[in-house]
Amino acid sequence: MLIVLNNKCNLTKKEFISYQNELENIDLNSNKLVLCPSSPYLSLYNLNNISLGAQNVSKEEMGAFTGEVSSSQLKSLNVQYTIIGHSERRNKLNETNDEINLKIKLLLKDNIIPILCLGESLEEKLNNKTKEVIEQELLEGLKDLTEEETNKLIIAYEPIWAIGTGKIPTVEEIDYVLNIIKTHLPNNTLLYGGSANTDNIVVLNKSHLINGYLLGGLSLKTVSLQEFIYKMN
Ligand code: PGA
Repeated sequence: MLIVLNNKCNLTKKEFISYQNELENIDLNSNKLVLCPSSPYLSLYNLNNISLGAQNVSKEEMGAFTGEVSSSQLKSLNVQYTIIGHSERRNKLNETNDEINLKIKLLLKDNIIPILCLGESLEEKLNNKTKEVIEQELLEGLKDLTEEETNKLIIAYEPIWAIGTGKIPTVEEIDYVLNIIKTHLPNNTLLYGGSANTDNIVVLNKSHLINGYLLGGLSLKTVSLQEFIYKMN
């Protein structure tokens, strides 16, 4: 299984250093972990057991874009994965599918694996729009990519209403969406994200379509993270 740790905009430098020391001692139990710290800490990464990911990338290649971090800069820091299209960026920072598509193309050019986040809002779910939303995010996000390029992506299904709320969908609801994704992308690694924790992992284990997890809140608590890993299939 693949576990992606999304630290979001958390931890001071001092806290990050001790957090990273704790991660070094985690027993992966033959799982693969990817750490996505805040961008200032990418250059502090020094783990042998865990791979490095970023939380975002610029849609611009390089140049006069104050505050942006380009794909080639990530590459030069040995970043191997990058989260793209997280709902917090889509909703709070108005990131569009077209911009996400540009970012994916730049990452692939630099041999960085995009972790593309997809998911519906509660309103969309209640209006039976989940399939439509997921397919539109896929269609527009993956526009003009070859099959070979598309196959490189990791897809994270993160229902927006489950992120940071303590609520999770039923396994049937998760599998319904993962099956939709699979009809378009049969070969890709599929993650579930949104309030996954040490209590609900036993339920999430029942899905045979989940290949791993994208963890936000839990990523910051190393003791619970270890428990989560031990409880995973
Ligand atoms: P959460 O966040 O695990 O805190 O719900 C997941 C995410 O936003 O990727």
